[in-house]
Amino acid sequence: MGDNGFLRYPATLSALKELTLIRPDDWHLHLRDDAVLDAVIASSAEDFSRAIIMPNLVPPVVTRKDAENYRQRIRSACSKLTGAAQHFEPLMTLYLTEQTDPVDLIAAHAAGVIQAVKLYPAGATTNSSSGVHNIEAVYPVLEAMQRAGVVLCMHGEVTDPDVDIFDREAVFIDRVLTPLRTAFPELRMVLEHVTTADGVAYVQSQTQYQACTLTPHHLVINRNHMLVGGIRPHYYCLPILKRREHQQALVKAATSGDARFFLGTDSAPHVTHTKESACGCAGVFNAPNTLSVLATVFEAANALDNLEAFVSKNGPKFYGLRENREQITLRRETEAVTFPDTLTCGDETITVFDPGMPLHWQVV
Ligand code: DOR
Ligand code: ZN
Repeated sequence: MGDNGFLRYPATLSALKELTLIRPDDWHLHLRDDAVLDAVIASSAEDFSRAIIMPNLVPPVVTRKDAENYRQRIRSACSKLTGAAQHFEPLMTLYLTEQTDPVDLIAAHAAGVIQAVKLYPAGATTNSSSGVHNIEAVYPVLEAMQRAGVVLCMHGEVTDPDVDIFDREAVFIDRVLTPLRTAFPELRMVLEHVTTADGVAYVQSQTQYQACTLTPHHLVINRNHMLVGGIRPHYYCLPILKRREHQQALVKAATSGDARFFLGTDSAPHVTHTKESACGCAGVFNAPNTLSVLATVFEAANALDNLEAFVSKNGPKFYGLRENREQITLRRETEAVTFPDTLTCGDETITVFDPGMPLHWQVV
């Protein structure tokens, strides 16, 4: 870490100038709808082949029909792009509620309409009010999912007001995930956007039915970056950034090559004024520079050899999908690579994640 806590390059940089990888996928992405969808779609579609699309729209994506319609809107936004981006494949999810119909869900999965189901504890994050209050109320749905091999993606935080916001992930593991795992030993579960050493240790202690996604921002910033010397609303996300020791545990897991850890950007666009507000929205819009940030992190950890596993291999393996056939090349530039500070969205802007350190890798 540098003096300000941001990552610093190792004294000797790798001589490697180019890195060719299987084209990556993003296993956790918010694309929203309408004008925001049109504004952000290229940022993901240019660098990624596929992405697991989060269903927390207003109203949420709760039925097979909703997922089919949303997939169509995403495909139509992609059709306006050029080159490989036109062929970006949205992998749809359903938003789990206490009213979810298991028959509709299993049929949607069998028909290839959805790849996963998303559990939001009610009130845990953006647009989660329709989520699950009582986890046991959805056990019959989880039973059907386990039988059919449908993946459950989880926002792993409790919402109990008595639990401190920095402890909500660790308490979720104890109170919700551990009993869930005992009840459903073969349910394929992804603990999303893990932010703690506790989350990493939990996943490492489990079988091949348990995986986890990690975001680029949780790998490069911690709560000091958000709060020391002024409050930086563009670093506010959920689960909230934790202390540096947790950040270091995440970097170690991501760069280890362990197949249970893979990329989910959690790129979550909000227009700038809704984040720069007295009560700002949670979410980091990182899609434009994710691969540059990750190459920098892996290089600093002397683990560039494991980058392809993290971004292109571990995810499809867990989801039972083929690896992409296309490739991308990242090149190390002498000069720092720059990204626009914002993206235009109608009369508004969306602020792009600032990793706070020079990035030297770019997709060519
Ligand atoms: O920071 C976040 N933003 N975390 C989430 O879980 C949801 C996301 C959003 O939808 O904005
Ligand atoms: Zn998310």
